[in-house]
Amino acid sequence: MASGTDWHDTSQHPTRVKRRAHWTSRMGFILAATGSAIGLGNIWKFPYITGVYGGGAFVLVYLGSVIIVGLPLMIAELIIGRRAQENPVGAFQRLHRDGSPWQIAGWLGVASGFVILSFYSVVAGWALAYIFKALVGFEGTADQIQGQFSELVGSPTWSILWHTIFMTLTVGIVVGGIRNGIERWSKILMPALFIILFGLMFYGLFFTHGGMKAISFLFNPDFSKLSAEGVLSALGHAFFTLSLGMGAMITYGSYMKSDARIVQDAITISFLDTLIALMAGLAIFSLVFSYGLEPGVGPGLIFQTLPVLFAETGQLISVPFFMLLTFAALSSSISLLEVVVSYFVDERGWGRTKACLIMGTLIYLLGLLSAVSALKLVYGDWETGFFDLFDYFSTNYMLPVGGLLICLFIAWVVKDKVRAEEFGSAGRLYKATVLTLKYITPIAVLLVILHGLELIPFVEYGQ
Ligand code: PFF
Repeated sequence: MASGTDWHDTSQHPTRVKRRAHWTSRMGFILAATGSAIGLGNIWKFPYITGVYGGGAFVLVYLGSVIIVGLPLMIAELIIGRRAQENPVGAFQRLHRDGSPWQIAGWLGVASGFVILSFYSVVAGWALAYIFKALVGFEGTADQIQGQFSELVGSPTWSILWHTIFMTLTVGIVVGGIRNGIERWSKILMPALFIILFGLMFYGLFFTHGGMKAISFLFNPDFSKLSAEGVLSALGHAFFTLSLGMGAMITYGSYMKSDARIVQDAITISFLDTLIALMAGLAIFSLVFSYGLEPGVGPGLIFQTLPVLFAETGQLISVPFFMLLTFAALSSSISLLEVVVSYFVDERGWGRTKACLIMGTLIYLLGLLSAVSALKLVYGDWETGFFDLFDYFSTNYMLPVGGLLICLFIAWVVKDKVRAEEFGSAGRLYKATVLTLKYITPIAVLLVILHGLELIPFVEYGQ
């Protein structure tokens, strides 16, 4: 049973005698986990894919995906982490047996954290760079302003510089540990993010002409615009946005005390993540519509379309916007690094500082490949280049396969251990969650994987 102190004794494990840090409070955990979930996926990706797939109907499918895939998987990951009090690789061994083949899921998670952080930091670096560009002010013709993005992304020197700064910030926070690093910074970044986003949404809804149109675009479903591909992308995005399938929630769950309320916390985190995505959508589309622009321009929506509008609105809107993006990215990148670090600390006995510095450097070096190859993104060529490869491979294969293994493990292997007691006062949700994890979530995840392989017969795969 957890004591009221920072440390929890996990010495009952035969091969290791050590004590584990825990979050100081339930609030601390929720802010850190919500920080992991809310990231570029919410502010950058969600609005642009919603634009590409036609708005309201896509949003509805996305909400459904969060409920039937995201929420049960998050509960599963938190249960695994909290029970095992271990990093993802150790957790599967602890809950099954030493040397269990299920630890492959943990390995996959550590590898995903490594790969995702490498390119995530490059995009986050652009967000950081844009805070300064916004401070200076966006000026010139629309083409010139949009061209600034190609200049940044196409210049290895600048891309690498911002990637270096962002990775340094990430490592700097994770070195501080669970309480003094991750939790402390999440407590600063998340409220700041919420206040900024609320302000921007308020501005978009009440001070531009696009507010009503944005509301109707996001909440008025037009099913004729929904494609099978849109449905599967919504499902896939539910993973990424909730940080699922790679053990981030296992890792954060492992720093929970044993009296934590997993189901309520998972609901809170999923709700906040969705709320922030919708608020970001409202803020961004109000602006886009108020200038009569198209919502479906794709990945350039934030770095190319918005700056053209920011030239009109001025620094008061643009600077907070890119701060918001950077804060969101930072609170996610620390969770990606923590998954990798926790493995080396728990399993290899490394000190936290050593693990952060060595792994941070290796991830940084891998990121250099993305930093120099991301120019393809500007030209819409997603087929080649390391950036696209890493993004595509991790989102379409690594996270869904990891998610499938996690849900099969909890529903079919440790099933007897997932007793109603895990659910505490949310006991009524127990049966529904177990049934969903057994049958519905695996099928939905399998569809995402087949979609990634372009193997779904009724979807037209353009290229
Ligand atoms: N959830 C983050 C986002 O929406 O940007 C990305 C992410 C973070 C994915 C941590 C996976 C993860 F483990």
